[in-house]
Amino acid sequence: MKITVFSGSHKGREGNTLLMVEEFLKGAEEAGAETENVILAEKNIRYCKGDFDCWLKTSGKCTLHDDMEVLIPSFMESDVVVFAFPVYFDNIPALMKTFIDRLLPILLPHFVEDGEGGYRHGKRFEKYPKIVVISNSGLPGLSNFQVVSLFFRRFARTLHTEVIGEIYRGEGEVLKVKNLLVKPLVSKYKKLLRNAGRSIVENQEISDELREKLEKTIVPDYLYIKFGNEEMDRMIENKGKRGSEGA
Ligand SMILES: Cc1cc2nc3c(=O)[nH]c(=O)nc-3n(C[C@H](O)[C@H](O)[C@H](O)COP(=O)(O)O)c2cc1C
Repeated sequence: MKITVFSGSHKGREGNTLLMVEEFLKGAEEAGAETENVILAEKNIRYCKGDFDCWLKTSGKCTLHDDMEVLIPSFMESDVVVFAFPVYFDNIPALMKTFIDRLLPILLPHFVEDGEGGYRHGKRFEKYPKIVVISNSGLPGLSNFQVVSLFFRRFARTLHTEVIGEIYRGEGEVLKVKNLLVKPLVSKYKKLLRNAGRSIVENQEISDELREKLEKTIVPDYLYIKFGNEEMDRMIENKGKRGSEGA
């Protein structure tokens, strides 16, 4: 099984998202998957021009020449693609949306029925990769992912495929905390992420039981908010650098 992650944090390799992706991929690799992690922030991806040239003039080839020329084949050659990103204003970040918009050439221009009373564009390919979503938000709580979850289910329908796993982590900043009390809790969470990677390879799903464990808070909300705000004050004082306590 080939799994390709498209990591969409604007912070690239520095992000909390990457910590989640790394653990997920460890599990997937242990279960025998071939994996790739594409850091979108390191790629040259221009905005879709919106002129439909890829549909009307060039039969499925985008007329922009940038890294999407390599990324679209990587996407289509995968059995599973993972969309990994932080929540930005309750939604996916612009980099991820820019990448997704550029996937237009993998569909056909003509409208077809979707079998559920709606419509979508036809398939250019026989088979599309299955989708896993990995996301984290700065605020605590699963409600931060309402829009994202709805979007990816709808997007999967549009792409003639399905979402086979959603991993959402509120209180995302906790993943980087080095505090001795919090570290073991994060380690436990990382193990669950590895189990999720393994499960996607072995079962093509994340069981309800595992999902429930993954969605449990790592530290109680009131503590995360209290220490988060205190850390914020220290960082403002240190002009952006993390303070020595708690972080
Ligand atoms: C422009 C911007 C918008 C954000 N909007 C939200 C938001 O709506 N809800 C939230 O919980 N966190 C929000 N965050 C916080 C990030 O989701 C959080 O810091 C996350 O851990 C960053 O992940 P990363 O390190 O992988 O980039 C926002 C951050 C930025 C930079």
